[in-house]
Amino acid sequence: MGEFVVRGGRRLTGTVRVNGAKNAALPIMAATVLANQPVVLHDVPELRDIQVMTKVLRSLGVTVERVGRDVLVDPRTLNNYVVPAELMQEMRASIFLLGPLLAKLGAAEATQPGGCAIGDRPIDLHLYGLTALGAVVDDEGGRTILRAKRLTGREVHFPFPSVGATENVMMAASMAEGETRIRNAAMEPEIVDLAQFLERIGATVRGAGTPEIRISGSGSLGGAEHTIIGDRVEAATFVLAAAAVGGDLVVRNCMVDHLPGLWGRLQDIGVRIEEIDAETVHVVSEGRFSPFPVSVATGPYPGFATDCQPQFMTFLLSVPGVHLVTEKVFESRLGHAAELRRMGAQIIADRRVALIYGGHGLHGSYVTAPDLRAGAALVIGALMAEGESVIAGREIIERGYEHLDLRLRSLGAEIQAR
Ligand code: EPZ
Repeated sequence: MGEFVVRGGRRLTGTVRVNGAKNAALPIMAATVLANQPVVLHDVPELRDIQVMTKVLRSLGVTVERVGRDVLVDPRTLNNYVVPAELMQEMRASIFLLGPLLAKLGAAEATQPGGCAIGDRPIDLHLYGLTALGAVVDDEGGRTILRAKRLTGREVHFPFPSVGATENVMMAASMAEGETRIRNAAMEPEIVDLAQFLERIGATVRGAGTPEIRISGSGSLGGAEHTIIGDRVEAATFVLAAAAVGGDLVVRNCMVDHLPGLWGRLQDIGVRIEEIDAETVHVVSEGRFSPFPVSVATGPYPGFATDCQPQFMTFLLSVPGVHLVTEKVFESRLGHAAELRRMGAQIIADRRVALIYGGHGLHGSYVTAPDLRAGAALVIGALMAEGESVIAGREIIERGYEHLDLRLRSLGAEIQAR
């Protein structure tokens, strides 16, 4: 496993531009299968997960080419509806192909994606939504096969606003006959970005970003150009790192409105946040705070983003006081607590709730990234710690953060990849 070696105690100063969002690029790349003309996607991050999605599309016969920050897709060569098992195991987001393949070819086949460090990650809501539109689901030897002679627009009422299930249904509905009404839909900014892409290729999508989305399908969807929105989770990661260690940081391509519940809390604690414009934020922090107890619970958008919870918990270690973090979206997304304790953090945690005793220093240690965002949190912890830390599992972190060491070094951090 690769590692990051970090020597803590350095402030972060300068400007960083966040990349296109991984969690918008992945469903939109899957959605290119729906088009019948070439698609150009701009500002697609160069991440391991994007490389896997590229391999998945190529395995289906689709032509995919990266040119700098752009990804060019020609779906006219699509000739297969079976997602390779090894790629599904490598990245569960391959499940986003179910809806588009079903809509385009009338069939889709994939192994059930495994669970991961943060939870079981079932796909029952995906299957619920797709069967509502007319798919028939068969399970044969651990492989899920969906078939549909044609898809018909229906009402899909989710019991939980699943991001991925909402996206799969949106994509399938884009070629269904008639109108599909998704109720209790996920409202994340990545949903809105997918909706804009679907509109660009010719579907009619209304209400993305609200709990009710209406999609009118079309039998034929064209090509398009689309720029991926900025990655709000990457933005929050840089902001929280500067807030924790102290710094003066400008973050660009960061849609300020996409992180409700973060800015106000940081300002209450004593971090100076200035919104320069809708896509640029200026963060100033001394890295030292007066006692201020914080309680935060994650939730579906616009609740506090679960993908920012590990990084925020680590930041709270720099704030004197007793803090409560409750993870309400995933059943076991506190794996970073045990690793942070190896740095001297005073955290008591079970599967969904953690008590953090902030304001005590951290020391360097050897830690291992249990998952992507926990890994990012450990990088923040190492930047805060006295002395040297080694973070194993660099590849896990690089699934979601491009050139993280280079970009942090450009801001003054002492971090090396090895
Ligand atoms: C997306 O995952 C993101 N991934 C996750 O980001 C993010 O944490 C999550 O949304 C929530 O915002 C991508 O977009 C690639 P969900 P997804 O369906 O679609 C349960 C990261 O770090 N559920 O909203 O899988 C599920 O188990 C990743 O970038 C079902 O029970 O999230 C979880 O407890 C991590 N049945 C909850 O819903 C289903 O069929 C939220 O899952 C689907 C989900």
